[in-house]
Amino acid sequence: MRRRLVVGNWKMHGSNAMVDQLSQALLPISRALQHTEVAVCPPFIYLARAAQLLAASAVGVGAQNVSQHGEGAFTGEVSASMLRDGGCRYVIVGHSERRALFGESDEQVIEKVQAVLAAGLTPIVCVGETLAQREADQTLAVVGAQVDAVLRQLDAQRCAGLVWAYEPVWAIGTGRTATPEQAQQVHASLRRQLQHHGAKAADVPLLYGGSVKSDNAAQLFAQPDIDGGLVGGASLNVEEFGAICLAAE
Ligand code: PGA
Repeated sequence: MRRRLVVGNWKMHGSNAMVDQLSQALLPISRALQHTEVAVCPPFIYLARAAQLLAASAVGVGAQNVSQHGEGAFTGEVSASMLRDGGCRYVIVGHSERRALFGESDEQVIEKVQAVLAAGLTPIVCVGETLAQREADQTLAVVGAQVDAVLRQLDAQRCAGLVWAYEPVWAIGTGRTATPEQAQQVHASLRRQLQHHGAKAADVPLLYGGSVKSDNAAQLFAQPDIDGGLVGGASLNVEEFGAICLAAE
């Protein structure tokens, strides 16, 4: 059975108090899970605090972004090795908000993926189409090209160290979720693409993201190629997030 994974993307939300409260609440939830790994991705400033609070648990900590550079004169940036020092296991790379709002290109995404892998961390690579692209029937082509841009630069062994998140842009933060069938169609296509890269590359978790909530998670996660979720808004609410983690079991 493939690994199951539920990741909370806090985006630019949180406080010391919230890190403490959510971390405490996650401890019993993670103990109740046998097949599902859970990770949280708070803003940079809270990573070390979350990592300390969760150190004795199975809950992983991840960053929402990373510099593609190793070190140097890059004011405001944080490197992958710093994230490892801070206790991170995962790094979200190429989230659509970074692509759309901060102009992140496929080239930067692949450089960041390589930096994260070189630091011994796991990139969670986000891909997804806009509403206009879906309506123009370009979903599989757009997602396929985003995935291909990364795969072309990595051998099969390094591809085995990735996690992918399919996040239709039109479903993020909108309350409008892809139907389980729509999500499965893209996941199946992504899985086939990875299979061309070798069995190990295809054996990695494929997460769905975009308005995952406690009331739609079970149906999404029941699809054969959906191995968990990347959860934004609902990860800020302990009851919601806990129920989503349980749905992945
Ligand atoms: P959402 O965000 O769950 O709030 O739609 C998901 C994401 O952006 O990762």
